Amino acid sequence: MKVDFYRHSLGTEDAQAIAEVLKSPFLTTGPVAERVELQLAEYFGVPYATLVNSWTNGALATLLALEIGPGDEVIVPAMTFIASANVVELTGAKTVFADVDPVTLLLTPQSMIKHVTARTRAVIPVHLYGQMCDVPQLRAALDAHPMARERIRIIEDCAHCFEGERDGRKPGFASDAAIFSFYATKNVTCGEGGAVITRDEELHAKVRETRLHGMTAIAAKRFAGGRYNHWDMRRLGIKGNLPDILAALLPRQIATIDERLPARWALANRYREAFLGGPLRLVAMLQACRHTEHIFPIGVPGGKRDEAIAALNAAGVAITVNFRAVPETTYYRERYPEAAGACPVASRWGEETLTLPLFPGMTRDEQDHVINAVRSEVYRLVPAT
Ligand SMILES: Cc1ncc(COP(=O)(O)O)c(C=O)c1O
Repeated sequence: MKVDFYRHSLGTEDAQAIAEVLKSPFLTTGPVAERVELQLAEYFGVPYATLVNSWTNGALATLLALEIGPGDEVIVPAMTFIASANVVELTGAKTVFADVDPVTLLLTPQSMIKHVTARTRAVIPVHLYGQMCDVPQLRAALDAHPMARERIRIIEDCAHCFEGERDGRKPGFASDAAIFSFYATKNVTCGEGGAVITRDEELHAKVRETRLHGMTAIAAKRFAGGRYNHWDMRRLGIKGNLPDILAALLPRQIATIDERLPARWALANRYREAFLGGPLRLVAMLQACRHTEHIFPIGVPGGKRDEAIAALNAAGVAITVNFRAVPETTYYRERYPEAAGACPVASRWGEETLTLPLFPGMTRDEQDHVINAVRSEVYRLVPAT
């Protein structure tokens, strides 16, 4: 049997939503995107949401709006996807890596605070795999720091965490901005896409501009009212707007995300039960969190991860690695040699981890096949502890 790493569950209703957009003259950002932005703001209980064409471009637009650049520092956890750090590098600011908690793999106030200097302008906590960092605690630690000259901004990386909560709070509650990804494998997807939500009116107004070249009006507004309306450019921006033709895939998914979550919980818990007491490392679950179970990583100790990948692939199971520790990649090693090796928790997990298939349309037979392959092929590589 072959088990895919991921299969999307979009269907005829979604094709119909795209067909509707094709009937209108507007393929790019317009009325559909505007409706989705209102839907997002309502879902998260924040006043402002802006659609973008990726997490990466949403984060870049946010950093540009905050005028973060050369001479500034931004703290990023060492265990994340490279994009969380790349956006900092692209602005010319310095990425400062903080190690993560060994049990949850999340950024903690203790690991973050060691890296705060007078140059720190922002922190990007990553809600890795779908469990949220404690953002109010990060905020409190930053506010109390004697070096913080101005309020250090918190930009949540919610690429794994659309429907997650911590202490009953959703992303965007205690941060300056929270950024989502609608990439192909995300719990809410339109192939490529993202969103920036915020409670900060000024930041919101600037992000609307920096996500589209710095222009003061999107195309829909430039031609509004059947006449041409002039625009200006007040700040430098990128091309990061989400077209209506992709935004059309989002309303149904946002409306149903909460009812679709238990299917992910069931799959993830079945893996957890199957591997309980075995030799693998599993990420601890936090009572305070509503987990999105975006992906299911395991840790294969004893230097056997790559053998485990080969064995699972040979058994027809597609896997991936989420993630290598970012400071260990060649670019970051060369740029910040002092950071490579300075985040031992992230480095170790980056060498041990692999991610098993998990998607709502996964059948019981498919999951049984993965579980059996792990127990027969991976367990024998790792001596029980
Ligand atoms: C933690 C994290 N941050 C950021 C991103 C980047 O998202 P996007 O591909 O939408 O730019 C990803 C993508 O997988 C991710 O996993």
